[in-house]
Amino acid sequence: MAAFGITYATLISFLMGLMTLTQIIGLSPPDQPPSWPSTFSVSFHEEQWVWIIPLARNAGAWHYDFSNKRARFDHLQGQMDNFCHGRGLELKDLRGDCHLLFNTTDMYVHYPREEKCCRACGVAEGCTVLKPTWMAGATYLGTENINGTVCHGWEADGAAARDRWYQTADGTPCRYSETIKFWPHPSHNITFNMRSFSRDPIPTSVFNIPAYCNTRCPIPWRPIA
Ligand SMILES: *[C@@H]1O[C@H](CO)[C@@H](O)[C@H](O)[C@H]1NC(C)=O
Ligand SMILES: *[C@@H]1O[C@H](CO)[C@@H](O)[C@H](O)[C@H]1NC(C)=O
Ligand SMILES: *[C@@H]1O[C@H](CO)[C@@H](O)[C@H](O)[C@H]1NC(C)=O
Repeated sequence: MAAFGITYATLISFLMGLMTLTQIIGLSPPDQPPSWPSTFSVSFHEEQWVWIIPLARNAGAWHYDFSNKRARFDHLQGQMDNFCHGRGLELKDLRGDCHLLFNTTDMYVHYPREEKCCRACGVAEGCTVLKPTWMAGATYLGTENINGTVCHGWEADGAAARDRWYQTADGTPCRYSETIKFWPHPSHNITFNMRSFSRDPIPTSVFNIPAYCNTRCPIPWRPIA
């Protein structure tokens, strides 16, 4: 009996230890808003709405390399991206693949299939590579099951819109969403293909700005005042 008692008590304390560990790892809210790794790539599914009306559904990818102050955001066939559109480029397919190319000073709108490209904006308009700490001051929202995975949510409250960022406990991006205040529906959701997430160094060629990206856009991008 004594042997059983010890075994039993050992088992109970072992199980309680496991539960405590689970609570620490899985259930306690992260006490700091996350920051992005300085380099990562991930692909995604993107949806946009105007008020409650669906506008676009398309694939895309981010290549983020803050260490070298460069990034490439791809919005693929079907996109209605508000940097890509409205720049005054002469295009056969305005909704075709569009890449946003950032270096230290400038942001370019590039339609690779049509080899059309222009400088849309730069440092003066705030078109720089987003800082890894852009979520500083964000509010913790709790967990949400996104496409079968438990993700932690954070909300950054801006003047006109609310940004929400969800990631797993180990830092894999789950979803980004943007909701215009007083609208009943998000205006923009990006749901990441979690399996595509990589922190490996990105080949420099990914960030190449083609030589034909040598003019300003007929209609440069300007932030809404
Ligand atoms: C950014 O790219 C443009 C186009 O290639 C180039 O003219 C500019 O010098 C680049 N800026 C930096 C800081 O490399
Ligand atoms: C968009 O994101 C929000 C979370 O911010 C979520 O509640 C909503 O279900 C998402 N919609 C789609 C279609 O993914
Ligand atoms: C959601 O999960 C399904 C099944 O695992 C997968 O096929 C699909 O690509 C996922 N979608 C995104 C946006 O990750």
